[in-house]
Amino acid sequence: MFLQNKNILLGVTGGIAAYKTAELVRRLKEQGANVRVVMTKGGKAFITPLTLQAVSGNPVADSLLDPAAEAAMGHIELAKWADLVLIAPASANTLARLAGGFADDLLATICLATAAPLAIAPAMNQQMWHALPTQDNMATLRKRNVIVWGPGAGEQACGDVGYGRMLEPLQLVGLAKEYFQQTAENEAKNLPLDNQHWVVTAGPTREAIDPVRYISNHSSGKMGYAIADAAAKAGAKVTIISGPVNLPTPNHCDRVNVQSAQQMHAMAMGLAPKADVFVACAAVADYRVRDVVDQKIKKSADTMQIELVKNPDIVADVAALTDRPFTVGFAAETQDVEHYAKGKLARKNLDMIAANNVALQTQGFNSDDNALTVYWPEGSKELPLTNKKALAVDLVKTIADKLMTK
Ligand code: PMT
Repeated sequence: MFLQNKNILLGVTGGIAAYKTAELVRRLKEQGANVRVVMTKGGKAFITPLTLQAVSGNPVADSLLDPAAEAAMGHIELAKWADLVLIAPASANTLARLAGGFADDLLATICLATAAPLAIAPAMNQQMWHALPTQDNMATLRKRNVIVWGPGAGEQACGDVGYGRMLEPLQLVGLAKEYFQQTAENEAKNLPLDNQHWVVTAGPTREAIDPVRYISNHSSGKMGYAIADAAAKAGAKVTIISGPVNLPTPNHCDRVNVQSAQQMHAMAMGLAPKADVFVACAAVADYRVRDVVDQKIKKSADTMQIELVKNPDIVADVAALTDRPFTVGFAAETQDVEHYAKGKLARKNLDMIAANNVALQTQGFNSDDNALTVYWPEGSKELPLTNKKALAVDLVKTIADKLMTK
């Protein structure tokens, strides 16, 4: 989940384990990562650029001095593009060149030119791994905060047994995921939300028709719960006003359960005046049934009509409070997203609105992923498609940034 839309620059250097990088690229892409491969001369002796181009879906770069490649995506652009540079396999020679700060080929140059974290998956003969120069180089790299994944122990291609095997592609993918998850959580922890109270509405509402039927929608609550979780991890006291969902309450959050829009409205109006931030992520029914009957409606005529009346607009009423919290709405749209979202921002007098296109199958209602465009009166920000947990961290950061400049 945490690799969705992450840009991973994979450096492939000379070692028998290079043959596993085709699988590694496939697995990273399966997780939603964008992968570009840079190969050293040694790497190309073990696997062809054509194979890695085919599996990554991107041209493979291998030369620092190739005018055509530099004109397409040069070494500085590649260095800036990466969210993570992963060298797998990282040969003993590569470790020595990295430790020495060399810039004698494309990969080494990118490692110097990038601001992205560098992870290495060493792979070599066990004696070479234990050799003092290699261990000195590793100590230097660790001191520079290079992330080291492996090597593993076991039987080696040369027949030796011991440490020096590159970790398996799935292990590396797992470690990359953990890395991005940890980074997102650390970023959230660094937000200055201590002493703030956030109220987050989440999930659908249910508008009763009779004792057994209701009008509702497909909201799962995942987006709202992820926001609550991210705000709580960042130190805020969080209360979720939750419609009926099938989710556990995130750690350190309070939760009040409601069914209907009117109940959610009553809870929100009770909690919002003392809150610092109000996030309206719930998919609230705009209308409710005028006359809810006490007994189950019996089947009779071929058609039936149910009269609906407008529900109170919860987020607009919160924004109308004299001592209001920083008020963030959501806009769930299927067309003209920007136009409708900006309309709601102004009409409901919100501080911020997070717009999502709920017509797309890959995001929105009841999906694990989402993408948002956040608008406020003077600006906007794209939060690209990723899983809702990572997206929530970005949204909470965006709100916190805005709060600090308010
Ligand atoms: O729950 P998930 O499955 O994770 O899906 C997430 C989501 C798609 C539900 C979420 O990202 C989202 O878009 N939530 C808002 C859904 C919605 O009702 O949008 P809207 O454009 O109809 O409403 C605009 C805003 O007014 C929203 O902040 C809504 O909470 C609020 N509203 C609407 C009606 C009403 N009576 N009271 C309100 O407060």
